[in-house]
Amino acid sequence: MSKRKPLVIVTRKLPDVVETRMMELFNTRLNATDAAMDQEALAAAVKQAEVLVPTVTDRIGKDVIAAAGDQLKLIASFSNGVDHIDIEAAQARGITVTNTPGVLTEDTADMTMALIMAVSRRLIEGAKVIGADNTWGGWSPTWMLGHRIWGKRLGIIGMGRIGTALARRAKAFGLQIHYHNRKPVNPKVEEELEATYWESLDQMLARVDIVSINCPHTPATYHLLSARRLKLMKREAILVNTARGEVIDEGALARLLESGDLGGAGLDVFENEPAVNPRLLKSKKAVLLPHMGSATIEGRIDMGEKVIINIKTWVDGHNPPDRVLPGMV
Ligand code: DGY
Repeated sequence: MSKRKPLVIVTRKLPDVVETRMMELFNTRLNATDAAMDQEALAAAVKQAEVLVPTVTDRIGKDVIAAAGDQLKLIASFSNGVDHIDIEAAQARGITVTNTPGVLTEDTADMTMALIMAVSRRLIEGAKVIGADNTWGGWSPTWMLGHRIWGKRLGIIGMGRIGTALARRAKAFGLQIHYHNRKPVNPKVEEELEATYWESLDQMLARVDIVSINCPHTPATYHLLSARRLKLMKREAILVNTARGEVIDEGALARLLESGDLGGAGLDVFENEPAVNPRLLKSKKAVLLPHMGSATIEGRIDMGEKVIINIKTWVDGHNPPDRVLPGMV
């Protein structure tokens, strides 16, 4: 076993059990305050670290990569998504990038289902009626009516791990599964889910009742749901996003919600996090969550375990299992 302990700089507070193990294995510098690092602090960190452990709140763009010293060899991101890292720039400098795929799948699919239910059945509005100052006037046949989801059509954009896990849940809720993806999924999976593949996103959008975004944010998916595409959706349809805010033109979405041309939206992610478009904040038809799709203690510990395995494998002279290469996402 290698005795070498590389300097590992962690940009945010991680679960105690993960930090303890990292301290045992590596020369680890933690961030006890959990304050997000600005670009200057990140540039300073990459001048010293052999391994940087950033997360989705850190922008590791060309500038930060250019500021890195030659000692920086691994960026072991505590995240599934890697759109906060310039993978090409890292590769050009010989820096390996890893992520934590797979361990967020079930939690994120659960939260997507929760948002579908919350928007369709008005859960947040209802919960607010019975607050500390209970304003509930009693049951009424025509009050607080939402929409049934059983028998409706769900259109999933991005049928990777999370999209497929969502489809399994949604099928059990009686939804019909439709999906748009770069290519159809394995025919066995398609058969199991009784799923319909749409090569044309435009055509799918016009035919489904609920749209869920489960694709990564890449240059190709930036504003994939543009003003034009959002207008193709049915008037009563709802849109749910637990992937990345950048995939939706948020201004156009807010306009459609305001004009009553879209049924509702459930958003866990935003284009300029932590800022949220003020028009979305005002919308009564939007359920907004603070990027908590994967926020379970079990998930965070699993993510930490993946980060540790990636660093340890690299320390031992092997290729880390979760390497991300340009073109992979
Ligand atoms: C990730 O890791 O990419 C997630 O967005 C965190 O929830």
